[in-house]
Amino acid sequence: PVLADSPKHNGETILIGHRGAAGVAPENTISAIETGSRSGAGFVEIDIQLSADGVPFIFHDDTPARTSNVAEVFPGRENDPITSFTWDELQRLDVGSYFSEQFVGEKIPHFDDVADALTGETGVFIEIKSPAKSPGVEQVVADYLKTDPQWSALEAGGKIEVLSFDAASNKRFAALAPEVPLQQLLGSVPSATELEEIASYADSFGTSYRTLDAAGAERVKNAGLGLGVYTVNSVQAAQASLELGVERLTGDFPAQIHRHLKGQ
Ligand code: G3P
Ligand code: CA
Repeated sequence: PVLADSPKHNGETILIGHRGAAGVAPENTISAIETGSRSGAGFVEIDIQLSADGVPFIFHDDTPARTSNVAEVFPGRENDPITSFTWDELQRLDVGSYFSEQFVGEKIPHFDDVADALTGETGVFIEIKSPAKSPGVEQVVADYLKTDPQWSALEAGGKIEVLSFDAASNKRFAALAPEVPLQQLLGSVPSATELEEIASYADSFGTSYRTLDAAGAERVKNAGLGLGVYTVNSVQAAQASLELGVERLTGDFPAQIHRHLKGQ
């Protein structure tokens, strides 16, 4: 699948490996991105933030406590903002051992590493995570998509979508790179009026599949927006979402959902 004609894409279901493939490898690591890239899903999703010295890195949480060995390496800094660490400090963290022994030594990826880890035709959903804590991140992503050969080839091939829960960040990104498909995330579907406002800068809308019902899905479609859901980790959830007209399915076990979709 490609997103070049988003939101009126080619009608195929778009499957996205969440944080790479967070159910089978440590989230947002090269292992997870490689696994997601080989899963049959067309895309992997990653979360991007900026380090204290301005380096774009891949990480979901606001602090290093849950997914790293920060307590060993930087005792006392477990609950510090992840964006308060410099790139060199981030590189000293192990973000694999929280998941299993198999992944001990896994490092936080640089944004550049993501493009290198993709196989075949895989595209990337770039979530701008907690942008208020990474000032300037929209410009960094837009610059990569415009000037970096690997990223601009992905963008030109319809293999990129940018997304955020933060509407102000999305509007900043839309102004910088209006040609890039953009998704507004929210925990549930808002009113038709709010969706109309979202449609003024975004191409699609993403929410939790748990909060989505037929009326909500219809409001999104009526606003002319594409529709995505997270985090779809069972074939039942995938099936229910498809029946509501969802075309972007993001989940931690993309190979499993891919097998289900192929079997249809
Ligand atoms: O694709 C959207 C999804 O990733 C949003 O939730 O918290 O996993 O970033 P979160
Ligand atoms: Ca995310």
